Amino acid sequence: MSDGASNHQDLNEVIRQHSEALAAQLHSQRESLFPPDASKQMRKFMSGEAAALLGVNDSYLRKLHLDGKGPSPELTPGNRRLYSAHDIQALRELLEKTARKPGDYLPGRREGDHLQIIGVMNFKGGSGKTTTSAHLAQRLALLGYRVLAIDLDPQASLTALHGVQPEFDLEDGGTLYDAIRYDDPEPIRSVIRPTYIPNLDLIPGNLELMEFEHDTPRALSQGNAGLFFFRVREALAQVDEDYDVVVIDCPPQLGFLTMSALSASTGVLVTIHPEMLDVMSMSQFLRMTADLMDVIAESGADMSHDWMRYVLTRYEPSDAPQNRIVAFLRTMYGDTVLNAPMLKSTAISDAGLTKQTLYEVERSAFTRSTYDRAVESLNAVNDEIADLIQKTWGRS
Ligand SMILES: Nc1ncnc2c1ncn2[C@@H]1O[C@H](COP(=O)(O)OP(=O)(O)OP(=O)(O)O)[C@@H](O)[C@H]1O
Ligand SMILES: [Mg+2]
Repeated sequence: MSDGASNHQDLNEVIRQHSEALAAQLHSQRESLFPPDASKQMRKFMSGEAAALLGVNDSYLRKLHLDGKGPSPELTPGNRRLYSAHDIQALRELLEKTARKPGDYLPGRREGDHLQIIGVMNFKGGSGKTTTSAHLAQRLALLGYRVLAIDLDPQASLTALHGVQPEFDLEDGGTLYDAIRYDDPEPIRSVIRPTYIPNLDLIPGNLELMEFEHDTPRALSQGNAGLFFFRVREALAQVDEDYDVVVIDCPPQLGFLTMSALSASTGVLVTIHPEMLDVMSMSQFLRMTADLMDVIAESGADMSHDWMRYVLTRYEPSDAPQNRIVAFLRTMYGDTVLNAPMLKSTAISDAGLTKQTLYEVERSAFTRSTYDRAVESLNAVNDEIADLIQKTWGRS
């Protein structure tokens, strides 16, 4: 072919070639980072961290170890005790047996408590939905809740964060789409997979989720969509008993997937990056959401929910314009803005670059103060949400 001919290549061919080249590069990059048989692992926890997660003193944990009770931690050359996430879970189960109050160590549902389904949303791209969802899901799992994380975003960032490569590991389906499609849906259990964190299961996402956006108008026009906005809720009902909390990372648009997640949610978290442009687009997001929910409510759906909260993301306390916006939001929305903001931190974005959450990276990889400040801010956000969950179950 002459040069002239290659200049006239069809756009679809060019894009396909670029896609294939990129996929191959990503694949080889991953092979070098993670050999095919290596899977992601959760780091181990220092005894102090393990004690804090369990809500006991480190000296008590040490005593259990010396008395030979519970799992034996790994000992470092300096004789410090390291606990795996599995050890922590085993300790939870042990401590719960002799707890003063039931649920001191296993904080999940009891008789009569309903499943918490938390939808993390905002149609503004980059407002911190995935970062919020991943840290929330992992923290709740480490605290002993049985958690199911769902990636509802075709971009699949939450999936990649959990060591599943959407382009390679999900060639034959395996996303929530399989369980919510109109045509011959699969049982939701077939798309749930365990993760390397005890108590945390994942339903990954990939581009196939987009099909739901295309199928729904067709199904609606043929009159067989049923109540499309209940597809997610109905699929989750199949595994209601298996979990305490479901965390759904929504895509940055108000499509049928987001509407279906919203209708399933018992708690809604709206992420807000406190900058003027983001807040302006949020106003549209809220209006459109309300309009769409009106339509759904008119068809008889119950729009009641347990709670809705705004969470400030990538917040920089030293930034005066951001502070003005935060003050304005707090005045306007009062208690519906979580007290704890998620601080902007290079520790969080750097961890993201290696497809990890801050809970997965080693503290030694960062300047201590940077790491500690970021972890404290994430814990504060997540623990406030855990409190909301407990309140919903009538405890505090
Ligand atoms: N607290 C933070 N500090 C520093 N960087 C952050 C923080 N939170 C999120 N980021 C970074 O900002 C970017 C966008 O965050 P994230 O992917 O969570 O947003 P999102 O709302 O899920 O985006 P999308 O709409 O594309 O799904 C990511 O690169 C992430 O690493
Ligand atoms: Mg995202």
